[in-house]
Amino acid sequence: MNIIRTGDYQEMSQRAARIIAAQIILKPDCVLGLATGATPLKIYHLLIAWHESGVLDFRNVKTFNLDEYKGLSRDNSQSYSYYMHENLFDYVNIDPENTSLPDGTSVDSEKECMNYENKIRLAGGIDLQLLGIGHNGHIGFNEPGNSFVPKTHCVNLQKRTIEANSRFFASSEEVPKQAYTMGIKTIMMAKKILLVVKGRDKAEILKRAITGPVAPEVPASILQLHPNVTLIADKDAMEYL
Ligand code: PGA
Repeated sequence: MNIIRTGDYQEMSQRAARIIAAQIILKPDCVLGLATGATPLKIYHLLIAWHESGVLDFRNVKTFNLDEYKGLSRDNSQSYSYYMHENLFDYVNIDPENTSLPDGTSVDSEKECMNYENKIRLAGGIDLQLLGIGHNGHIGFNEPGNSFVPKTHCVNLQKRTIEANSRFFASSEEVPKQAYTMGIKTIMMAKKILLVVKGRDKAEILKRAITGPVAPEVPASILQLHPNVTLIADKDAMEYL
């Protein structure tokens, strides 16, 4: 694992955005795996700025997001689809047809998951997957459990995740209790993985994920087995490493 410690969130974002930009420049029709949450926000803002200055062309880029809340439509302001439009897609020249997230409103969960998995495969797989980590060690919405679930599936969100995500909702009651997420194998099949982490509140789980046993109790620990992972974390998140 390539580990990059940065002074602060700004530097973490710059280092990560440069890796994504390099991927787009080297392979203009690359497939990016994208993440939501607070951590990637500045990365997306930098990518937009580089697009505006003519450095980045998203015309042929394809994207697949890690996850989406079950039950939220694309135009719901809390959906991850909405987040992606607000924070990236609407400000770059990406073809909306080339952007994919699981459809939170799909009535047939199994079919939705199978279709999403197939769509990634048909696109040729993910070249570069951006990841954050949850306080409980989740990647995407792969929550801690007794086993690693390989493929895209529907999960029951854990109390800790619902509480953490309630900061984006009016109250924790409003946070959906289920979500679609890429599976662990879906993520591990990406050719390259870029894990970004900020803040002291993630320091303990980051240490467990990077130096602890590889076990489904800490889903991110599986990344120890991937041959091409870059971790970029600010000094607060790296406190115990
Ligand atoms: P955050 O979320 O970037 O908002 O901390 C990370 C995650 O839960 O995967």
